[in-house]
Amino acid sequence: MRETFRVLVAGMGKRGMHHAEAFRANPRFELAGISDLDAGRLEAASRKLGEPPAGSHLDSLAASVRPEVFCFCTPPQVRLEMIEAGIRSGARLIAFEKPIALSSAEAMKIGEALEQSGVKAVVSHQHRYGAHYRKVKEIIAGGGLGRVHTVYGTATGWMVHMLSHLIDYLCWFNDDAEAHWVLGQAAGRGKLADNHPSPDYIGGFVQFANGVRGIVECGAGAPDVPEVDYWWRKCRLGAQGTRGFAEVMTGGGWRALTEEGLVSGPGGMDYALDMPPYIQDIADWLDDDRKPHPCRFESAYRGHEIMMALCRSAAGGGQVGLPLRDPRDEIEMLRKGLPERPVLLSFPGNAKEYAC
Ligand SMILES: NC(=O)c1ccc[n+]([C@@H]2O[C@H](COP(=O)([O-])OP(=O)(O)OC[C@H]3O[C@@H](n4cnc5c(N)ncnc54)[C@H](O)[C@@H]3O)[C@@H](O)[C@H]2O)c1
Repeated sequence: MRETFRVLVAGMGKRGMHHAEAFRANPRFELAGISDLDAGRLEAASRKLGEPPAGSHLDSLAASVRPEVFCFCTPPQVRLEMIEAGIRSGARLIAFEKPIALSSAEAMKIGEALEQSGVKAVVSHQHRYGAHYRKVKEIIAGGGLGRVHTVYGTATGWMVHMLSHLIDYLCWFNDDAEAHWVLGQAAGRGKLADNHPSPDYIGGFVQFANGVRGIVECGAGAPDVPEVDYWWRKCRLGAQGTRGFAEVMTGGGWRALTEEGLVSGPGGMDYALDMPPYIQDIADWLDDDRKPHPCRFESAYRGHEIMMALCRSAAGGGQVGLPLRDPRDEIEMLRKGLPERPVLLSFPGNAKEYAC
């Protein structure tokens, strides 16, 4: 019989519950412990999850659970300390939520800690499992667009919520080519005070090593996606090539124009569909080093570098070369560098989230 992996999940909010439920539903995992600092939340989660061992003191819970997988889904402010707790727990793999950190300085420390410990890590950029995302990837990889010259992504949600998703999927569309440099701009200080601290609007260009141009926009100035009603899913990502384009809308299916004509299909981001294969790939990677997880830390780290480089460029001007070598606090750089002028919107639907 194949091994069952004991899992500890910390942070029992929306995403912690998604993870706990998905681990529980997969026979390769045993939900062996749950944790949250909020006692009421922990109790409510415990009732829904069949009352696994629960506690607010992570180290003591981990000592009794002895997890093989340490999963945490806490707000973005809580990252390095959780990685350290995960390594102390003796787990073989840490599964955690995007963004990997709020600064390049923290991301670098996380990278070093993981490398020194040899613990595997995956980051939840799970939208890519959506059938409509996979269809677009399939068209690009199958050569239907000819030579791809541009990959792009936009989202109306703000940077720390959405940009690492966009970048992760663009890099995937572009066969994970390395990025050489970025050039960015940003506007609006309102969301710097949010618990996902961000400029209200950020956009920029990425030069990839294979010559492909990346273009991203995130926040108040990003274009509407009128085909999609749900504001958080107004994201459009795709690729253009010498013979056509293919793009996915997070809440609105996919479409492509190739030499065979215009084709399109349905699809909408759905946690219930995306989480099971994301979780199964964790078991597969634990079973076999030759099956690395598509959302492994190394890939998320490269995306995070692009995001932080865009912030550096927006705060200080000019192009920023990659990889980043010197640790910085990019949100702080934006706090110092962003002008006081209010952000300008791309369409009235953005006014509910951004002060203008
Ligand atoms: N991948 C996705 O599609 C997706 C979607 C939504 C949110 N997210 C990300 O998931 C993360 C969590 O978001 P959420 O919406 O679930 O947040 P949430 O606020 O609903 O839940 C976070 C939980 O973490 C707990 N917590 C905080 N510090 C803790 C600690 N030190 N130890 C244990 N528990 C602690 C809080 O009490 C809370 O219950 C964020 O980083 C967010 O950006 C990802």
